[in-house]
Amino acid sequence: MPQLICKDLSLGYGSQEIQHGLSFEVNSGDYLCIVGENGSGKTTLMKTVLGLQKPLSGTIEFSEGLSSRDIGYLPQQTDVQRDFPASVQEIVISGCLGRKGFSPFYNKDDKALAQRSMERMNILDLKKRCYRELSGGQQQRVLLARALCATQKILLLDEPVAGLDPKVTADMYELIDSLNKDDGVTIIMISHDVDKALRYASHILHIGNECFFGTKEEYRDFKDGAVKGEDDND
Ligand SMILES: Nc1ncnc2c1ncn2[C@@H]1O[C@H](COP(=O)(O)OP(=O)(O)OP(=O)(O)O)[C@@H](O)[C@H]1O
Ligand SMILES: [Mg+2]
Repeated sequence: MPQLICKDLSLGYGSQEIQHGLSFEVNSGDYLCIVGENGSGKTTLMKTVLGLQKPLSGTIEFSEGLSSRDIGYLPQQTDVQRDFPASVQEIVISGCLGRKGFSPFYNKDDKALAQRSMERMNILDLKKRCYRELSGGQQQRVLLARALCATQKILLLDEPVAGLDPKVTADMYELIDSLNKDDGVTIIMISHDVDKALRYASHILHIGNECFFGTKEEYRDFKDGAVKGEDDND
């Protein structure tokens, strides 16, 4: 049974439409990669799925008792966010806030969950360090641990490897893959690396002038067709 069904979504801001006709579904245990050019609306789509903004039209349905509050989110990083003056521990545990309604206090369960998430991401030794003094790769692990505090079910990751060197990028992909395969976490990830998407993902959503949703095998055929179409035009 799908965890998330998006039907005929139209996305945008005010009267400006950025994308329309987006339909896709995500089943438990899927690994969906969202690819597409800069400005095509990938981050807007994630924010819409999270309920941070409304679609211009279309529907978003969750099942299995899930709601947008059960999604762990790793936002696309800006320089301002990288400079955030808080400890690793504080940032990780703030992932619990979405579930807590108006209560600003953390309980024992929240603290235990933050500890487990830091262990899983191998950053326990960093827990007292200031976030802004960490390397880019360490910061992304902190944000993944934070997202894991929000949920163990679905993670939305917006370009989690942007700006990381090849070794740290490879480690990050392995870590995300292990969360998906070993822990059964559903992954929805925005990435510009189509090769890696084809290696790790089960499904691809391509957003652009032409949109595509299907398995990665179907996506290969779709891309081959597009290249052949270009050749035919020569
Ligand atoms: N808050 C906003 N208000 C108005 N327009 C916005 C807002 N945020 C983004 N946009 C516009 O919406 C379009 C899609 O932006 P979005 O950030 O979703 O693209 P993206 O696919 O994530 O791009 P990138 O690969 O660069 O991260 C862009 O033209 C952008 O300028
Ligand atoms: Mg983006």
